[in-house]
Amino acid sequence: MADATKKAFVTGHPVKHSRSPKIHGHWLARHGIDGSYQAIDVAPENFAAFVKTLQANGYRGGNVTIPHKEAAFALVDHRDQAAEEIGAVNTLWFEDGALWGGNTDAHGFAANLDDHAPGWAGNGPAVVLGAGGASRAVIHALKQRGVADIRIVNRTLARAIELRDRFGAGVSAHGMAATDELLGDAGLLVNTTALGMHGNEGLSADPALLPDHAIVTDIVYVPLETPLLAAARARKLKTVDGLGMLLHQAVPGFEHWFGVRPQVTAELRAIIVADLVPKL
Ligand code: ATR
Repeated sequence: MADATKKAFVTGHPVKHSRSPKIHGHWLARHGIDGSYQAIDVAPENFAAFVKTLQANGYRGGNVTIPHKEAAFALVDHRDQAAEEIGAVNTLWFEDGALWGGNTDAHGFAANLDDHAPGWAGNGPAVVLGAGGASRAVIHALKQRGVADIRIVNRTLARAIELRDRFGAGVSAHGMAATDELLGDAGLLVNTTALGMHGNEGLSADPALLPDHAIVTDIVYVPLETPLLAAARARKLKTVDGLGMLLHQAVPGFEHWFGVRPQVTAELRAIIVADLVPKL
């Protein structure tokens, strides 16, 4: 029988690395809500059954992470515009008995830059490194905010072309060899690849080639200062780390499940940073 506690979850496979329980746990305590947010490991073959029994199990919704984002996209009754355009769902909730799927990664990306580099969307052409799932969310955010010249650079050119075709006007596709030339007049450089993640070496773009007013951001947040951000800082460019995107993408889900729009505060950031430290 469903109890009075408001229940939400994050599911992935694996899911134990997820920081989402810490984020939502902090907000639940902060707002004195009788709620829970659990990490649930679900193998791909069990994911559809898991989704079908959510309501019966008393869940108001939850987050979906790798490898279930595309499966969730296919299973929901309705999708928000961001999920539709990105092709993946990371947030589930119920409305009038129907299951909705949304994608809050683009919101998280834009809100992080709004916090730390206000005015970013008017800063000029954007160069986006990578053409995977994370890149789709970033490109959606850039288009939503009116960035008119979005340049996707990817090791596998065909994947960049696929995204260019998906997002249309204002988006161009390039191989790695074009990177240096594309940086010369760019106002924003975004890394969406795992390059520079802990244990994953390499820099695929040199911030030294960017103009002085350029902003550099990385969606990777382990380590908080990636080699790309370190090089940009050495070049005295404005840098924004990826942790704020993680924190901000959690906001709309919490509001759906628990009825309060939570804040991304310095206190929350410090809690998650402290949790990252042993892994650096
Ligand atoms: P995500 O959903 O996190 O974006 P993904 O879909 O696996 O993950 O995409 C990973 C991105 O990082 C891709 O753009 C990938 O380039 P390819 O499309 O050529 O595979 C990029 N990437 C990963 N490792 C890389 C490397 N060593 N050098 C250059 N690009 C790399």
